[in-house]
Amino acid sequence: MEERKWFKEMSMYQIWPRSFKDGNGDGIGDLKGVMSKLDYIKSLGVDAIWFSPLYVSPQADYGYDIADYCDINPEYGTLDEFKEVLKAAHERGMKVIMDLVINHTSDQHEWFKKSVKREEPFTDFYIWRDGKGKNGKKPPNNWMSTFPGSAWEYVPERGQYYLHLYAKEQPDLNHDNPTVREYIKKVMRFWLDMGVDGFREDVITQISKAEGLPNGFPLMPASRGMEHYNNGPHIHEYLKEYRQVLKDYDAFQVGEAPLLTPEKALTYVEGDDKELDMCIGFQHMEADCILIGWVKTPFSLKKLKKVYDKWQTMLYHKGWNANYLENHDQPRTISRYGSEKYRVESGKALAIMYSFLSGTQFVYQGQEIGMTCPYFDKYPEGTDPWAQFEDVSTFCVRDLMRKFGFSQKHILKVAHTAARDCARTPVQWTAGENAGFSEAKPWYAVNPNYTEVNVEAAEKDEGSLLHFYRKVIALRKQYKDAAVYGRFELHLKNDPHLFVYDKIADDGSKLTVVLNVSDKAVPCKKFAKYIPEGAQEILSVYDNASFAAVTKPYEGKVYYTPTK
Ligand code: NOJ
Repeated sequence: MEERKWFKEMSMYQIWPRSFKDGNGDGIGDLKGVMSKLDYIKSLGVDAIWFSPLYVSPQADYGYDIADYCDINPEYGTLDEFKEVLKAAHERGMKVIMDLVINHTSDQHEWFKKSVKREEPFTDFYIWRDGKGKNGKKPPNNWMSTFPGSAWEYVPERGQYYLHLYAKEQPDLNHDNPTVREYIKKVMRFWLDMGVDGFREDVITQISKAEGLPNGFPLMPASRGMEHYNNGPHIHEYLKEYRQVLKDYDAFQVGEAPLLTPEKALTYVEGDDKELDMCIGFQHMEADCILIGWVKTPFSLKKLKKVYDKWQTMLYHKGWNANYLENHDQPRTISRYGSEKYRVESGKALAIMYSFLSGTQFVYQGQEIGMTCPYFDKYPEGTDPWAQFEDVSTFCVRDLMRKFGFSQKHILKVAHTAARDCARTPVQWTAGENAGFSEAKPWYAVNPNYTEVNVEAAEKDEGSLLHFYRKVIALRKQYKDAAVYGRFELHLKNDPHLFVYDKIADDGSKLTVVLNVSDKAVPCKKFAKYIPEGAQEILSVYDNASFAAVTKPYEGKVYYTPTK
């Protein structure tokens, strides 16, 4: 029997603060804006909010470059305002999870500035090395950053290179240094003592680098060297140490883990001495691309089912999943796995698809109203197409793709479902000016479809995706024995359009999910035998409609069968 835990049953709402809601009229999302929408968030039926970084940051990577771990970015508000939001969220029965970005800091962090000057105890807080070659002019090894380019930056003042696995403004902390680990633990306690309920830990499986920093496999154009720092030699030791901090609190940890397989995930989340409660993996986000999202392939439901099957089966009764479809790094899924033409229907099918899988559920701001990706190849003549982007990684990938000979037209076209910018457009609250996000010009362009796709319109429409999400979240709880804790059984593995699965509770009751994840008319006789006789229909993409001879686009239903 699966151990019951509050965080397992949770549906969590992710806020990327800059684009959530502006409360002070400067065009940038902030804590005042969050406060004004807490009742809305609660109305979704979610149990927690995860804040993408709110901390002081020069915003080179929009908050993932932290200059002060213990204060709020003035653009977003103050620490007192954060405490008010925390209190108000708790009063509404919602937990609050902070992003903990400790693989790297900002180059504007005091620790880094002092490290440059070799001031103790900060001298070895980062990964500094002498250059190679004649006069030390070459970087210490051939590693490439994830945002392509060398992973090394030279600082004349110190006469050495520092390692940065992400942007050059994000120097990697040296977790091999015990003092660094003590400082990080202090940061964790700072937030836990304030009352936050846990952490989402950024690229946490990359904090331990191989001794001697050996050269990486030469052909990789980005993240070269990853085999020497992904799940590195001391990772389990360091995570166990950080885990100790949580022992004094009823808090939880979800760790982001690039290139994670279920086998590897178990090394972090299995057993009594587990290091994380769950991992954020990426395999299920690669059903329409290869590794990095910019190498596109047609969406393959078969590929997606295979991934879900493996994760659901291998972690059953052993570990725990983090189920998400969108976040601030993932372009909107309706544009990727669903259909913009059948925006609401495909949004509903995708909502069903992942909400009844075992694991903690994550919903990203705007996902619940079916926000889609903007089109970057449709820009006013005579304007600079690159002015439409804000994300550091978009520019890096663009430069890399240019080197490989891709045309501007191609890059802009691919960006529609590849650029992280797609997930970062302001939340569309109303059909009014600036989509009701702000009274001022928003820091980032609103998707032009806001006149149709917005919270206000969705509230008024009983058939909207928003109301559907509320239902799905409630049903996931109501049927949690099967939905959250049940055993997954996949049918029709090789069907390219149908996603049919059972979730079977310990007492034998079960949920049956039948979905056509395509716009094709699929003969219903293909799946009829999987719908148990006498099963009760509890949810349907199309209201008041039974399956006909063939499916409608993205048609789907969920059935409940009680214990015999
Ligand atoms: C993962 C975060 O989700 C992403 O937004 C960020 O750019 C990198 N880690 C680096 O912190």
